[in-house]
Amino acid sequence: MKKITIINGVNLNLLGTREPDIYGKQTFESYLTELKRKYPQVALDYFQSNSEAEIIDKIHEKGFDTDGIIINAGAYTHTSIAIADAIKSVSVPVVEVHISNVHQRETFRHHSYLSAVCKGVILGFGLQSYELALVGLLDKR
Ligand code: DQA
Repeated sequence: MKKITIINGVNLNLLGTREPDIYGKQTFESYLTELKRKYPQVALDYFQSNSEAEIIDKIHEKGFDTDGIIINAGAYTHTSIAIADAIKSVSVPVVEVHISNVHQRETFRHHSYLSAVCKGVILGFGLQSYELALVGLLDKR
């Protein structure tokens, strides 16, 4: 069974109530239930933290013995060289995701420290961005 870890960063615990016009009205927990039901062949592990250090520890923990990591680091995307270094340090493929199309938003969201060290980037498809990242990690072509 494939093992994939989803890591959500800062403020993403508030999905469902936080700026619903941008991020939607669904909680991540409810979306994850749907995703697990749709991909029963995948062991989907989920971790959320508002702490940069905890996110880095989780990347270290899961970055050598799973089949991939899907990460939405939230605002740390635009600030964290430390998370980029952690992604660089591990061996599993990491996909960066964003719910919103950050390029349609404020210019400070246009730069990501993570994109260059990730296998791929998916953004702008709402919560479906996570599923598209999962499909990308599972596809062997
Ligand atoms: C986000 C985009 C970031 O700019 C923002 O800080 C977030 C969420 C997204 O999923 O669209 O917290 O990563």
